[in-house]
Amino acid sequence: MTTQSAAVTTLLALVLTAPLASPTVVAQRPTSLAPYVPTPQDVVDRMLELAGVTKDDVVYDLGCGDGRIVITAARRFGARGVGIDFDPERIAEANANAKRAGVQDLVTFIEQDAMLADVSDATVVTLYLLPSSNVKLRPILTRQLRPGARIVSHAFRMGDWEPDETDRFEDERGNSRTIYLWRADGTVRP
Ligand SMILES: C[S@@+](CC[C@H](N)C(=O)[O-])C[C@H]1O[C@@H](n2cnc3c(N)ncnc32)[C@H](O)[C@@H]1O
Repeated sequence: MTTQSAAVTTLLALVLTAPLASPTVVAQRPTSLAPYVPTPQDVVDRMLELAGVTKDDVVYDLGCGDGRIVITAARRFGARGVGIDFDPERIAEANANAKRAGVQDLVTFIEQDAMLADVSDATVVTLYLLPSSNVKLRPILTRQLRPGARIVSHAFRMGDWEPDETDRFEDERGNSRTIYLWRADGTVRP
């Protein structure tokens, strides 16, 4: 083989094997379940009251934004909390807010796609997402949550699953608000 044809053979071998040797990994960006719109503080308080949160609860907020729901649950009731958001800026804010509120030992914030969250140790799950996102989460939540766990959603229902309680009220700025509560009962709802 001439030097030139050997070089061509080597190059060809490199081109043919390159995709196998270093496969391109395309990171899957999580699908957004809702834009960032924080729940006003008085509505947060009402959500936690509807859920009847106590110090024995573990409160998960899926799409936690600046962490206000789990931070309030820790500050007011001594509950433990986990906030999950796919936006690293929100997670940084939430950690700073927890520190400022002095509840960093009670709460954890995780940068993650909420669709991949493990909520099996939650006793309360809070949501302020979109109606279609609640429906996507419904089978995951009803499969993972233990009977008696509560789900509280600001503004949106979970498809045709009838809520156990509905609270309609005017918030401090005169806007009408609705929050819904469901109790997990061991039935998986697709
Ligand atoms: C309407 S805000 C609610 C924030 C907070 N729960 C509250 O009530 O104040 C929705 C949040 O969900 C987050 N989010 C959207 N899609 C998500 C996903 N796939 N996984 C995790 N977080 C997500 C957004 O970054 C945003 O912070």
